[in-house]
Amino acid sequence: MGGAACVALLSACAHTSEPEEVQVTETVIETVEPVSTPLMTETDVTVTPSLWPDITVPALDPAIEARIDDIMSKMTLEQKVGQVIQGDTDSLTPEDVKKYRLGSVLSGGSSAPGDEPFASKEAWLEAADAYWNASIDPEGVEIAIPVIWGIDAVHGHANLFGATVFPHNIGLGATNDPDLIEDIARITAQELIVSGHDWTFAPTIATPQDDRWGRTYEGYSERPEIVAAYAERIVHGLQGVPGQEDFLGNGRVISSAKHYVADGGTKDGHDQGNAEISEQELIDIHAQGYFTALEAGVQTVMSSFSSWDGVKMHGSHAMLTEILKDRLGFTGFVVGDWNGHGQVPGCTNTDCPQSMNAGLDMYMAPDSWKGIYESTLRHVQNGDIPMERLDDAVRRILRVKLAYGIFDKAAPSERPGANEESLLASDEARALARRAVRESLVLLKNDDNILPLSTDKTVLVIGDGADTIAKAAGGWTLSWQGGGYDNSYFPNGESILEGIEEALLPGGGKLIFDPEGTSDAKADVVIAVYGENPYAEGVGDVNNLDFRPNDFDTEHLKTYKDKGIPVVSVFLSGRPLWVNPELNDSDAFVAAWWPGTEGGGVADVLFQTEPEYNFTGRLSFSWPAKAKGYQPNPGEAGYDPLFAYGYGLSYGDDAPNLGPVSEDSGLTEEDLKDGDPREIFSSGKTRGSWSGMLVYGGDYVPLQQGATEVGSFEVGRADYKIQEDGLVLNWGPGSQGRLVFVSMGLPVKISGSADTAMDLIFAAKQPDGGRHQLVVSGNCQQNGECAGTETVTVSSDEWAEYRVPGACIGLADLSMVMVPAAFSSDEAGSVAIADVHFAPATGDAECAE
Ligand code: BGC
Ligand code: BGC
Repeated sequence: MGGAACVALLSACAHTSEPEEVQVTETVIETVEPVSTPLMTETDVTVTPSLWPDITVPALDPAIEARIDDIMSKMTLEQKVGQVIQGDTDSLTPEDVKKYRLGSVLSGGSSAPGDEPFASKEAWLEAADAYWNASIDPEGVEIAIPVIWGIDAVHGHANLFGATVFPHNIGLGATNDPDLIEDIARITAQELIVSGHDWTFAPTIATPQDDRWGRTYEGYSERPEIVAAYAERIVHGLQGVPGQEDFLGNGRVISSAKHYVADGGTKDGHDQGNAEISEQELIDIHAQGYFTALEAGVQTVMSSFSSWDGVKMHGSHAMLTEILKDRLGFTGFVVGDWNGHGQVPGCTNTDCPQSMNAGLDMYMAPDSWKGIYESTLRHVQNGDIPMERLDDAVRRILRVKLAYGIFDKAAPSERPGANEESLLASDEARALARRAVRESLVLLKNDDNILPLSTDKTVLVIGDGADTIAKAAGGWTLSWQGGGYDNSYFPNGESILEGIEEALLPGGGKLIFDPEGTSDAKADVVIAVYGENPYAEGVGDVNNLDFRPNDFDTEHLKTYKDKGIPVVSVFLSGRPLWVNPELNDSDAFVAAWWPGTEGGGVADVLFQTEPEYNFTGRLSFSWPAKAKGYQPNPGEAGYDPLFAYGYGLSYGDDAPNLGPVSEDSGLTEEDLKDGDPREIFSSGKTRGSWSGMLVYGGDYVPLQQGATEVGSFEVGRADYKIQEDGLVLNWGPGSQGRLVFVSMGLPVKISGSADTAMDLIFAAKQPDGGRHQLVVSGNCQQNGECAGTETVTVSSDEWAEYRVPGACIGLADLSMVMVPAAFSSDEAGSVAIADVHFAPATGDAECAE
């Protein structure tokens, strides 16, 4: 369906019939609270410490140890418990920090002071001072311990407005330049100080094996060599070098190696998954970065959400204590990941002695900090958590704080570098980022040496990525999921298009820009910039590696190629993808990853504006020849990529033409539907050919990855099984808004015949504990009517499953479905929904008549 038809359908899609109450089956999905809390997870992995290497970590400092003894002798039990807990700034106030004496605060990817998911340096500093001052308030304690503030500065300090956004790690891996990496880390630390942050949750030293995983781009390489070489240097850049004067001194921050360990070892493409590999493989492929990071003195290690051999890292005494601390000698502290402790069997977000007993030292309890504080205090009092374990955790946290000199520091806004305009996107930072972009580009195809381009040409630039910095910056940029911000949100950046324009100036070339790529202007060459839209974590998981163009139709490439105009593709992505049709329709093809805010680096190399600007990037991830299933990595059976690990062309190579490549992706018709068309919305995203639209009056807005609103109807995110995998539908005054899931293609066949009846199933809850009448409809037409409507009463604040027979919402015939589900309301209020799908009818649910 084209854009125009879609508008017509949706704008008219308001229901007219009166809602009736219907009976639905209701199954409570939440697991029951465990009767007794076991001290340790019942099962743990068995490890062989002798398999692990001997490494040398920086020695303890006796002066610091003595100081810890002194501080701990003055701390109350309550203070100690507070020290091991970290809450999110969106869910706690400075007063809370003072009252509970919390050890740390974090700001998640979309948490920032004010209404936006990011903030200015002034706003961050004001908040940092408030938490700091609360933490050092001596009222009621013998000794007050300053708080440390952690944030995800994972490719520059991208939640800080105006900061330098570097290429994502996948691009940095392609540079294979450890010196560059250390400089980037050093600059990132400086920008963190500008905004008053002490600690970054970086580096990610995953070694991702399955590119279907949504976090592939957070890894430097699928092989351990680059990861290990970089881990050391990035830790040095962030923290300084142990033993040297500036170690954790001014301009340095605390680093966190994550996610320990084998987060990239899951081979089914799912985030937070399970690595089913041998201990040797875990050591050889996934732990190498930890060895060098620990030797470099990394102060904190973040436990992974994932499991090894079915055991959650957050609950593994073998991995957190026996290996990391006892065998490898880690003396810093282990921080959890976002409520990751709550996923340990027998645990909840607010109660999990198992994690602490396994070796976790600080709970990352964004919104659950108060509950986990209370339960942890109780568990220490009754001996479920031995006092020695709590003391050890507190000692480790104080060790890091003392190494960082926290007791000698001024309030965040008073520190050297704080609020320093000249340190925010400095000339040095921008030049470094631009260099990183140049070095990260991997030239995959350059038939007839079409590149480099000369600057006296008429260049037609097409594609949605050319002038959209947010798209080029990827996930973890301004917000958790990234995307969705226009270029004015990047005051210190430059789009790829702007870079091309500058490059053309000296030669007197001409630039024509047509993002859609339908212009028939006479041009000497076409540069097409397109690729994946940003995502983060599980939201980025895909079923296969087939590239699906989103906001740009790559069919247009062919039109130019057929006219004999050479096409240069600049491909933006968080992973290698199967792009053979696009490769065939391009004369040159550049993998540009997600380069960040210095788009000019792309033109530097395309036009070779300086003789030394050649392509030096080499693939740190193999590029797939097929799209289906797990794609083996070097050394694995069946390794047969299109471009092998280490591949990349340079000017002057005299490489033979690539020529046409096979357009058989290995996917079947069914696969191409992204799995099962019965899946509508799950794991936080719409599936297959379904898209989400918010409709309000005549307006419609596509469902965004963060919050979306139209009129007084707003859709935000809710946590169902993982973070942000559900939606909160909030009807403000007026309440006509409706969320419609709609097919963006032809009508979809959900089921073959009328006698395979299906139920529409979804999870829902009423977040405020009230009651809400949720109106569910299907197949809404252009005349505004939906083919059927049912009203469901959602009255529990626990997630429950609801079933509505397809026949009740006008979907008796499931062979031609345009709108599989629409949710609206006739009253103000809110409902959370998740996991919307069809399944064969059980016969239990009926239409209300
Ligand atoms: C991610 C971590 C991140 C943390 C804090 C988690 O969901 O897995 O990488 O550091 O959130 O934002
Ligand atoms: C992310 C956070 C993010 C949160 C939103 C987490 O998984 O790591 O940074 O803000 O989810 O719920």
